[in-house]
Amino acid sequence: MHTAIVTGATKGIGYAIASSILEMGGKVMITGRTEAGVQDAVARLGKAAGAPSRVTGRAVDVRDRKAVDGLVAATVEQFGSLNTLINNAGVGVFSEVEKTSDEEWAQVIDTNLTGVFYCTRAAIPALRQANGAWIINIASLAGRNYFAKAAAYCASKAGLVAFSEAVMLELRNDNIRVSVVMPGSVATDFSGPSAKTDDESWKLTAEDIAQAVADLLRHPGRSLPSKVEIRPARTT
Ligand SMILES: NC(=O)c1ccc[n+]([C@@H]2O[C@H](COP(=O)([O-])OP(=O)(O)OC[C@H]3O[C@@H](n4cnc5c(N)ncnc54)[C@H](OP(=O)(O)O)[C@@H]3O)[C@@H](O)[C@H]2O)c1
Repeated sequence: MHTAIVTGATKGIGYAIASSILEMGGKVMITGRTEAGVQDAVARLGKAAGAPSRVTGRAVDVRDRKAVDGLVAATVEQFGSLNTLINNAGVGVFSEVEKTSDEEWAQVIDTNLTGVFYCTRAAIPALRQANGAWIINIASLAGRNYFAKAAAYCASKAGLVAFSEAVMLELRNDNIRVSVVMPGSVATDFSGPSAKTDDESWKLTAEDIAQAVADLLRHPGRSLPSKVEIRPARTT
């Protein structure tokens, strides 16, 4: 049974991943930045899965190292173990580098890269104790296919792809599998209303990414798909 932390699961991809782990019979701790947002998502997830006792949540900003350490401790205390860490929380700032403020740069790098480092480092001791564990990082195709007006975002996701591969090599002999999932365009609130197109039907859905994560979690123990690129099958 999966005992999981899914960061940034109040909506979008993280919510869909949490929902799918619950469907698989797992227990899930979700996070987001506000108590109200987290409790609302916990209630919706518990109701939809018919299993309110298997989902809980904490307002934890992944940029806050102490809060992250507390999150891991609380999860192990509540579930008795932690065997699955899904690093999903992420933000995007899409503007010319010349117009990107220090605060915007720090928000993107601290959330998308340093936050994953904090969560991973805090979780490793508990993951080592599990009899087979997973760390799955949600990066982006923007971590490989760079584009204009997205320097901070592309840099954060390229860094995350590199971080994931290095950690994968470091932990594979400890029965901890690390994989990085790199989605293309997904129809969520992520890029704000201005990025919405009249027809969004060509985009991936949050559930498509959750399915990719669930497929990884079901993979036989001897094999490790360490990098998954997933893109819309068509572009319009
Ligand atoms: N949508 C896409 O096209 C796309 C494509 C490739 C990759 N991705 C990646 O997929 C991940 C999820 O994106 P999404 O599309 O589902 O976005 P979303 O709908 O905007 O959801 C983002 C989630 O992250 C949480 N979050 C943001 N900053 C956080 C922080 N500092 N600490 C804790 N939680 C935080 C948000 O919670 P609160 O707002 O409640 O705090 C929310 O639950 C991101 O890493 C993103 O880069 C998205």
